[in-house]
Amino acid sequence: MKQKQAAVMNAPKTVLGFYVKYVCHGLWWLFAALVFCRFIVSLDSVFWPMLQRWVVGMLENAPAGVNLMKWCMPTILLITGISLTMSTFAALRNWAMDAFRPRAENKISEFFTDYVHSQSMSFWTQRMAGQIQSRINDIANGVDAIVFDVVNIFLRFIMIIVNSLALLTVNRYIAIVFICVFIFRAAFMWKLRNPIKNTSKATADAKSKLVGKLVDSFSNATSVKLFAGAQREHDYLVPIRKDWFNKKFRSQFIQRISMAVPNFVWDVTLGVTLVLCVYMYSHSTMSLADIVYSVSVYTMVVGMIGGMMDAIPSIIDRLSAASKAYADLMVPISVQDKPDATDLIVKHGKIEFKNISFKYRHKYILRDFSLTVKPGERVGLVGVSGAGKSTLVHLLMRFYDVNHGAILIDGKDIRDVTQSSLRENISFIPQEATMFNRTIRENIAYGNPDATDAQVKRAAIRSSAHAFIMATDKKYDSFVGDRGIKLSGGQRQRIAIARAFLKRSPILVLDEATSALDSETEVAIQKSFSELSQNRTTIAIAHRLSTLRNMDRIVVMEHGKIVESGTHNSLLRKKGVYARLWNMQSGGFLQE
Ligand SMILES: Nc1ncnc2c1ncn2[C@@H]1O[C@H](COP(=O)(O)OP(=O)(O)OP(=O)(O)O)[C@@H](O)[C@H]1O
Ligand SMILES: [Mg+2]
Repeated sequence: MKQKQAAVMNAPKTVLGFYVKYVCHGLWWLFAALVFCRFIVSLDSVFWPMLQRWVVGMLENAPAGVNLMKWCMPTILLITGISLTMSTFAALRNWAMDAFRPRAENKISEFFTDYVHSQSMSFWTQRMAGQIQSRINDIANGVDAIVFDVVNIFLRFIMIIVNSLALLTVNRYIAIVFICVFIFRAAFMWKLRNPIKNTSKATADAKSKLVGKLVDSFSNATSVKLFAGAQREHDYLVPIRKDWFNKKFRSQFIQRISMAVPNFVWDVTLGVTLVLCVYMYSHSTMSLADIVYSVSVYTMVVGMIGGMMDAIPSIIDRLSAASKAYADLMVPISVQDKPDATDLIVKHGKIEFKNISFKYRHKYILRDFSLTVKPGERVGLVGVSGAGKSTLVHLLMRFYDVNHGAILIDGKDIRDVTQSSLRENISFIPQEATMFNRTIRENIAYGNPDATDAQVKRAAIRSSAHAFIMATDKKYDSFVGDRGIKLSGGQRQRIAIARAFLKRSPILVLDEATSALDSETEVAIQKSFSELSQNRTTIAIAHRLSTLRNMDRIVVMEHGKIVESGTHNSLLRKKGVYARLWNMQSGGFLQE
């Protein structure tokens, strides 16, 4: 994993560099085979006009009285042979293409899966999952654009030059007309390249914005239902769709102009070429075979240029989308393992927050915060919503790095150890547990992939999840739906608790672990929790204060600072913030 992280961190700055260094790496032989086969196949644009000239010339110049079939047979066999060879290379080219494309796609997908999972938390909070996937697709599409289309255009370009030179040897007047028109065409395209690029980029931006908004709208389907917001969603998206349409239309208009004008010029060129041919034929300076050749080259070259020009805007489109996607994903990883980071080994489980300060953006959430949790001590964390409780435990998990101060485990700064070893040593039940759309068994075993079925079942029993799991149609093999949508909030929470039971780590962190549970289930789980927290350093956050009554110490936070600390009874006697919160809850739903 460390090697993979290093590879990710040394990733090239541009998407082109990335294609060369990572995607084509190990696939050069396939790439070379592909280019070679394409080269051979593209030679047919040079051969065919020549063969046609040859056949006509052969018939024109056949000696009187000769057996025509016999006279022509060697040429016919040669042409058939060339044709068969071309088809063989075309088949090989397709094979190379089919072998290259999925390999490259897999490499990109694999690289970015590793990469995004090594990214820090702030990366995820600023992006939507759907958007990330669409960015990865853009990068994969860029490979196609380069490996297939750019190579193709390059080869066509060479063939156009070869054809023009060959024509020069046959009839220099027609060749000169050709070359002039070709230069005009290239200059025209060059002139329009910036408008094409800019409008393509603007269209890609507008599309990405539209997709982002759509994904956001779909992921909030429940809120849309809840607030009867379908019409509002429709109206909200109208200007964004309109903007995309306008940009797309403008971009396509410029692309069409870039094709239409040169096409008119070519049509006139055909007329001029034919006039030249007839003039020279009537003056016996041009044979029938040369006329056939000139017209054949004309159609071949016009066809090739048309194909090239059609492909260029789409290549620019895909390459700019790929480069934008790459720049968006390849941002520096804000939380990284130090090169000399060692694995954390927890012997006692002492946790120290030493004068830490932390801000997400501008406003400090924690300021000069200090707290020491003794080995095996169970500390409850209490405070109003937004006080910074989740932030504090996220810092302990090193989802973010502190701005000042340090967090130590058994005296070791968590910035000096590998993130994976840090997280392996902490069982963390987050405030909002998310599930994979996999089976219940897989979701529980995520806490310990080596766990046996019996261990998974025992964890489920201890977290009071076994009964509801057995009631689902496929029991432990039931799928839980996207992000666990087929489970109730309390069921998801119990699966998350089962994960923690399975992960036997010396530190336990619970962030509102039982908030979605009914009192009866909670009481049942509390027993397992006290068992689980035996000999483990525990930090438990809860709004329902009754769940923290048996903690060794309760710490009360306000605006990112500790305002009170002590046992449940001592805090009640103090009649401070905790006592006030407790009284409010006792008067409410927690009267016991
Ligand atoms: N990713 C984030 N980016 C910016 N600000 C954030 C982010 N996460 C939390 N905050 C802000 O940090 C503050 C503390 O949030 P935190 O989640 O730590 O509170 P909490 O004490 O856990 O609250 P609750 O009891 O509601 O869970 C809040 O004002 C919140 O708006
Ligand atoms: Mg919280």
